[in-house]
Amino acid sequence: MLTRLCLVCLLAVISPVLTQNWQARPDECGRKHAGISTQIVGGEPAEEYAWPWQVAMLENGEHICGASLIDPWWIITAAHCVDPCYLCTPHVFEFRVGSISLTSKTDVTQVRRASRIFTHPEYDLLDDEEDDHDIALFRMSQPFNLTHDYRVNTVCLPTEDMDDEFGAEKVATVTGWGTLQSGKSDFPDTMYQVNVPIYDQEQCNKSLNGEITDNMLCAGLPEGGGDACQGDSGGPLVALGEGNSDQYYLVGIVSWGEGCGDADSPGVYTRVTRFEDWILPIFNNNYTLDSYVPCVCPEYMSAAVIAGLTSLSILLAVSLGFNTALTIMWKKKSKKGVQDGGKGDIGHAMTDTEGT
Ligand SMILES: *[C@@H]1O[C@H](CO)[C@@H](O)[C@H](O)[C@H]1NC(C)=O
Ligand SMILES: *[C@@H]1O[C@H](CO)[C@@H](O)[C@H](O)[C@H]1NC(C)=O
Ligand SMILES: *[C@@H]1O[C@H](CO)[C@@H](O)[C@H](O)[C@H]1NC(C)=O
Repeated sequence: MLTRLCLVCLLAVISPVLTQNWQARPDECGRKHAGISTQIVGGEPAEEYAWPWQVAMLENGEHICGASLIDPWWIITAAHCVDPCYLCTPHVFEFRVGSISLTSKTDVTQVRRASRIFTHPEYDLLDDEEDDHDIALFRMSQPFNLTHDYRVNTVCLPTEDMDDEFGAEKVATVTGWGTLQSGKSDFPDTMYQVNVPIYDQEQCNKSLNGEITDNMLCAGLPEGGGDACQGDSGGPLVALGEGNSDQYYLVGIVSWGEGCGDADSPGVYTRVTRFEDWILPIFNNNYTLDSYVPCVCPEYMSAAVIAGLTSLSILLAVSLGFNTALTIMWKKKSKKGVQDGGKGDIGHAMTDTEGT
């Protein structure tokens, strides 16, 4: 409970310097394992190893969202997948790659814990109605092992100037373990895939009552059918690059929708091409304080504050009483005995757990 009280989190640790380019592995990203069928009919179960960057995001051991592997150290997902209560405790989030099954393993299945969370500073974590800038990055405490045969691989990140490449009618594919029907809450064990053409932006804005911003894109069939749904959130919408490219790009991140698969109600995705300027400095370890969101936990705040203040005042009263009695005894002893206040826990909650 105490770690949830982390209201002001100080950037206490200077991380090791690493520099990285926008594309972590430009020649290898987005490639698939040989022998996977590229034919997708409708919404259907995916073949094993078909989407080597698809990640299952777990919170306290439970599947909550999808995500994508963009670097051995980094996972990208939607900001709305991040419960603000856990911003100070990134290790409650785990990421699993290397299987189409949520429960069974292959010989390349791997799970890693997060050590740092970056949600977009303009995404309002406390407002459920807010959908703009729905993007988050997680740094792992250990890197994923990518395989040379692309059974586990990164997906390519599109640059800002590639926006036109992924315009209206380009066919993209969305994958994940989301519910197969709107309103259902049980996730299938097997990953599903569905092809969805990218929508015209203006048409999409009309279909969704003018709620679409430049940071979003829509994809779906005008007649309905294939769509992402609850549990697919944060997962990838990918499309092949221009020409004869055999490399897939992360065009969108599953964000929101009105129902799932309804006619003239496409799914809405975070438009990844808009976030190059946000992702790059984080990759380059140029963490600024405004992209580092403090931990806030509205549901627990009032109760926690009251409990905290109560225990503090009891502690204070007790220690004052004790102090007077023990001053003489303590005077000649330990010099750091009085330093252990409650503050220590709060500061530590946000620190990097890497290498510990
Ligand atoms: C993953 O890589 C690490 C070193 O980076 C190695 O120690 C470990 O054995 C590898 N795990 C697997 C399953 O290959
Ligand atoms: C969508 O429509 C609203 C209302 O007409 C408008 O304010 C907004 O700029 C539009 N969004 C885009 C991306 O054009
Ligand atoms: C780090 O970010 C700040 C603020 O965005 C910027 O002014 C500065 O030039 C960046 N430094 C490097 C080395 O990129």
